[in-house]
Amino acid sequence: MSNRNKKNKAPRWFVPAGMEPTEMDRIILGWQEKGKLVPTPSLIKTQEQIQGIRKAGELNTAVLDYVADHICEGMSTLQIDKMVYDFTTSHGGVPAPLNYEGYPNSCCTSINDVVCHGIPSEYDILEEGDIINVDCTTILNGYYADASRMFIIGKTTPERKRLVDIAWECLKIGEKVCSQPYVFVGDLGNAIANYAHKNGCTVVRDLCGHGVGLEFHEEPDVEHYGKKGSGMLLVPGMTFTIEPMINAGDWQVCGDEEDETGWIVLTEDASDSAQWEHTYVMTENGVEILTH
Ligand code: MF3
Ligand code: CO
Ligand code: CO
Repeated sequence: MSNRNKKNKAPRWFVPAGMEPTEMDRIILGWQEKGKLVPTPSLIKTQEQIQGIRKAGELNTAVLDYVADHICEGMSTLQIDKMVYDFTTSHGGVPAPLNYEGYPNSCCTSINDVVCHGIPSEYDILEEGDIINVDCTTILNGYYADASRMFIIGKTTPERKRLVDIAWECLKIGEKVCSQPYVFVGDLGNAIANYAHKNGCTVVRDLCGHGVGLEFHEEPDVEHYGKKGSGMLLVPGMTFTIEPMINAGDWQVCGDEEDETGWIVLTEDASDSAQWEHTYVMTENGVEILTH
């Protein structure tokens, strides 16, 4: 019975009856026959959809640029949230986090040992030496773009500066692996983890990048560690994020006991964590960045 079910399982990729397979069809079908995880046709965006996500990306970049121009010591993370809400909505967009699965605010503000999903608060005041990730997802005309940046408040320690730089380099390494189509998510995850480990850092495993564009979180999962050739095949027309969370200490994460929402993620050993994120579209010539 289970065997028969497996055999009868609809393939993820198929060429509609009467259609001549394209070069892309042939490549995807080849990997599917080898048992690899391939996308479904629904994950391939049209040019019109990509243009919509690109426009959302432009507003997302403007939001983060606005934050970059104003973020400073003594500011509360709730003030950052207000900037994100006001700038996004006054430019015709919607901040995707607001009311997303119970999330209470318009962006995530993750300071020092907060890995991600830090909730803006009037009581969290930026101090000299803090490193903070501001993660914004912008909806424009129904299309989603997701990006985050690190900001260093005043002068920080060499260790923190180095962590922020390594996290950035990890993102760039993931991007470089995607400089051609038909790579696997595991190829970029493997390269990112190797680089992080070589530099004495670790990669968070419990959270990952994701497909994005028509919804906030779509297939595939984009893990930032793993084996080459594992995970989904990335083909032209797919839109997704890369967003490695890099820890100075161990990779394990935990929740915050005082956080009633259950969103906030911390490093278990209270070591610092850094993350950068962009939204990409895979093309015939590799990824194009849709957020900047
Ligand atoms: N922007 C985050 C990501 O990169 C997700 C945040 S979900 C929220 O996927 F609800 F916390 F905003
Ligand atoms: Co994000
Ligand atoms: Co994301």
